[in-house]
Amino acid sequence: MSRPWSNGYVADVAYIEGYYVQQSPMRLALACCIGGVAIDLPEPDDHACYLELGCGMGIGALLTAAANPGWQVTAIDYNPAHIAVGAGLARAARLDNIHFVEADLSQFAESAEGRAMPAADFVSMHGLWSWVSSDVRAGIVRLLAAKTRPGGVVHVSYNALPAWQGAIGMQRLVYEAGIRSAGRSDLQAQTGLTLTRDIKAAGGKYLVESPLASDLIDTTSAMAAEYLSHEFMSAHWAPAFHADVAAAMAGAKLDWVASANPLENFNELMLTEEQRALLDRYNDPIMRELIKDTCFPRQLRHDVFVRGARRLSNEERDARIARLTLIPVVSPGELQTTLHVPAGKAEMSDPLKNMMVAAMRGPATIAELLALEPGRSTPAELIGVLVGSNQCQVALSPYGLQPTSADRLNRVLGARVRSIAEAKTSSGLASSRLGGGLLAPPLVQFIADRLLSGEREDRADAWIEQLSADILPEKRDKVREVVNAAIEQRVPILRQLRIVPE
Ligand SMILES: C[S@@+](CC[C@H](N)C(=O)[O-])C[C@H]1O[C@@H](n2cnc3c(N)ncnc32)[C@H](O)[C@@H]1O
Repeated sequence: MSRPWSNGYVADVAYIEGYYVQQSPMRLALACCIGGVAIDLPEPDDHACYLELGCGMGIGALLTAAANPGWQVTAIDYNPAHIAVGAGLARAARLDNIHFVEADLSQFAESAEGRAMPAADFVSMHGLWSWVSSDVRAGIVRLLAAKTRPGGVVHVSYNALPAWQGAIGMQRLVYEAGIRSAGRSDLQAQTGLTLTRDIKAAGGKYLVESPLASDLIDTTSAMAAEYLSHEFMSAHWAPAFHADVAAAMAGAKLDWVASANPLENFNELMLTEEQRALLDRYNDPIMRELIKDTCFPRQLRHDVFVRGARRLSNEERDARIARLTLIPVVSPGELQTTLHVPAGKAEMSDPLKNMMVAAMRGPATIAELLALEPGRSTPAELIGVLVGSNQCQVALSPYGLQPTSADRLNRVLGARVRSIAEAKTSSGLASSRLGGGLLAPPLVQFIADRLLSGEREDRADAWIEQLSADILPEKRDKVREVVNAAIEQRVPILRQLRIVPE
């Protein structure tokens, strides 16, 4: 009997569209800077290659291609339903620098197409590693070994241990009950989850007493069925220790550098003083990460690796970070100066607050912000706080013009939005200044499309009408509120990023 092409991964239900900022080249570059590793940053018009593995619909790859017209982007997935959507969006936006490839990663490295592919400066895989079989993971490592250029950066996200320890039994229960029931995998996942809820209600000790399993059973009831089928119905799902992922990546000569979530790299915010003292017994980064994951278990890790680490001294690292430019991605009124971090609530000092307020005014280098309060913070701390709290992003080309490719993709993405009811899922808009994507829900994509078409905010009533066609009349006031808030808070950001005209 021939092996089904999906090889145990879910293929009968398409995955959700999404954009994850950890995949953006600037996030990866920032992680390298924070981790003290030099990286060459190509400009949007330079020749550079970005590769996404297990790309799903490929929203992140599309935003990267549209924002950086000089780059060559390749997005690989074996599910033709996903490739059809991504390639269709690329065609509609007339992007000629992105190539969607339908291929199985277990064998792609050895294929003619794989061999012909250029070496990548950036590789990203989100939501792939923990969900595929060991032969697919081995194929990924062979591809990385052959196609990551020296100095290139690789991002991999995965379900991590020991954080997932408490829910391994729950996943197994959902999966085993699911595969014994008829129907598509989204229905199977629901059948399995219903069983976990029933067992928990009946006092099943493991599900009641494991905080993670118990929480997941509650939170999954509000999650998209497509997401849950991919999350729970893979035959190969296996959370991994950081040490094991690092060992696998070493097979492609990749060294672990840092987390793509900036705050996670600041031990002062992640750990107590006593925990930091234990960490400091070790220099070895693998051992330090294991201790960190034991003190502060992360369910989903976003690790950044580099092939051929050019290590920087602390002074060189700080000088490089000081030259980076930040752009705000929230409006000044939304600025948060109390951050919720694992070590507790962190209230920023007054000098740090002053620098954060100044950062809200527009593009500024870290050096310019630090000069406002000499000696009161460090380049790494300031960038970690502002980018880690998702209030600023690092700019690739802070004063650059938005290329027409980005306008075209943003219009294609926005024109698809028909109703406010779609406004919940996360997606993005291409921004050349950011060198990739800005996180933007469908409502903001819709507004960007309208503004790019030449309309102004005085058309808001018509937009509200259009977006609430399928909404009950008594809920229209709420729609008006949400649209007006988006216009007030998001449009200035879109203008500053040149995603929409002045
Ligand atoms: C959880 S989804 C993540 C998609 C996308 N990265 C995202 O975050 O939206 C995992 C993706 O990996 C793809 N995939 C699974 N096994 C694969 C294989 N052997 N070769 C290529 N793609 C694979 C699936 O089709 C799916 O699109």
